[in-house]
Amino acid sequence: MSTFTAPKGTYDLLPPSSATFLAIRERLSAPLRRSGYGYIETPVFEDIKLFSRGVGESTDIVSKEMYSLTTKGGDELGLRPEGTASVVRATLQANLHKLGNLPVKLWYSGSFYRYERAQKGRYRQFAQIGAEAIGAEDPALDAEVIILADDAFRSLGLSNYQLLLNSLGDKQCRPVYRTALVDFLAGLDLDEDTRRRAEINPLRVLDDKRQSVQDQLVDAPMLRDFLCEECKAYDEQVRALLTAAGVAFVDDPKLVRGLDYYTRTTFEFVHGGLGAQSAIGGGGRYDGLSEMLGGPALPSVGWGLGVDRTFLAMEAEGIVLDLPATTSVYAVALGEEAKNVLFGKVTELRRAGIATDLAFGVKTIKNAMKSADRSGARFALVAGDRDLAAGVVQLKDMTTGEQIPVELEALVTTLKEKQL
Ligand code: HAM
Repeated sequence: MSTFTAPKGTYDLLPPSSATFLAIRERLSAPLRRSGYGYIETPVFEDIKLFSRGVGESTDIVSKEMYSLTTKGGDELGLRPEGTASVVRATLQANLHKLGNLPVKLWYSGSFYRYERAQKGRYRQFAQIGAEAIGAEDPALDAEVIILADDAFRSLGLSNYQLLLNSLGDKQCRPVYRTALVDFLAGLDLDEDTRRRAEINPLRVLDDKRQSVQDQLVDAPMLRDFLCEECKAYDEQVRALLTAAGVAFVDDPKLVRGLDYYTRTTFEFVHGGLGAQSAIGGGGRYDGLSEMLGGPALPSVGWGLGVDRTFLAMEAEGIVLDLPATTSVYAVALGEEAKNVLFGKVTELRRAGIATDLAFGVKTIKNAMKSADRSGARFALVAGDRDLAAGVVQLKDMTTGEQIPVELEALVTTLKEKQL
C-alpha cells in the first residue's frame, strides 16, 4: 500500500470493470454518432466567469462546488463542473454557427468536477457523455435529443428508469411566474442564505432538498400554470413526438434542474435502483445561454448522461455486458530460443487481430500455466525447444484441456479459423 490514496470523492477505474466503463461510454454515444453529431473536446479548465455567468451564480454548482484556481500569471480559472457552457463558448469562438448547418450538433465525453459531499453515486470527479444541438428552435430537436438518450440507456439493457419532463417557460412567461413566486416566497420562513439565492434566481428554492423548505412549498405557484401559449404549444409538440416514438415520460412540474440556463423543455432520467443519487442523466433547452456569453441568439437543447451512475444503475439491474475477451491466446515459452520464436508469433497474431498475451519472466511451467488460466484466454500456446525443433507449438484448449501440436507456419490461420 502506498502512502497516498486517491483524493476524497474520486476513484480509480481498474480492470476488469474499466472495460465495462469504456463500453458504456461507447454505447451512450453511439446513438449520437449515427444522428449527425460531431465530436468536440474542450479544455477541462476555463475562465471561471464562463461558469458563473453561464451556469449561474445562484446555483450550488457555482457558488459552493466549483474548483477554482489562480494561475501564476494571475488568471482565475475553474475546473469545468459541466460541459454546456464550454461547448457554447467553443462554438462561438470558432464561429461554427456561421460555417455550416444549424443546428450545430456536437457530442462530448469527459470528466467534470464538483466539490460535492462525496457518497456513492456522487463524486467530485465524474464522467459524462454529453450532447448539444445549438442554434435551432424546433420541438422535433428537443424530441430528438430525448429519444437519443432513451435509446442510449436502452442499448445497455437498462429499463428501471423514468423520464421526468417539465417546461420552464421562456422570456415572455417566466418573468410573470417569477414575480408570483417571489411574492409567495416573501411570506415564508427562509434563512438568509436561501433568501439571497432566491433574489438571484427564485426557482432555485423549489429545488431545495431540505424537508423544512419543501414543507413550505406545498402551495407554491407552479410554472406550468403560467406558461404562455407558445410555450404550451411547444411543450405539447415535444410530448406528441415522444409518444409517437414510444418514449414514456412522467410530468414533473417541480423539475427545475440545478443549472440556471434552462428555458422551456427540461428533463431528467431517474433510476429506481440508485437511492438518493438517482439522476442518471438530464438536460433541456437553453435558449438564452449564447447571448449570456456575448454571442448571438442561438436557441439550443442538450443533455449530459452520467457514466458513473449508469454503471451503478447497470449493477443495480444485474446487467453484465457481453464484452470481447481481452486475451484470447496466452503464449508460454520454455527456454530462451523458444521465447524468441514465440515472441515473433505473438506479434504476428496481434497484427492479425487476435488478442494475444505472453508470459514474461517464466520460471516454471506450472506457474506460467496458472497465469494462462488467470488471463481468461481460450487457448494457451506452449512451446519448448523440442517442439520448435519439430517446427510445432502445442495449442491447448483451456476449457477442455485438449492439447494438439500445430505447425508454426499454420498457427495464424489455425487460430483465425477458431474465430478469435
Ligand atoms: P447535470 O444534471 O448537472 O447536467 O448532470 C448530468 C448528469 O451528470 C447527472 O444526471 C448525473 O448522472 C451526472 N452527475 C452530475 N453530478 C454528478 C456527481 N457529482 N457524481 C456523479 N455523477 C454526476 C449537466 O451537467 C448539463 N450540462 C446537462 C446539459 C447539457 N444540459 C443541456 N445540455
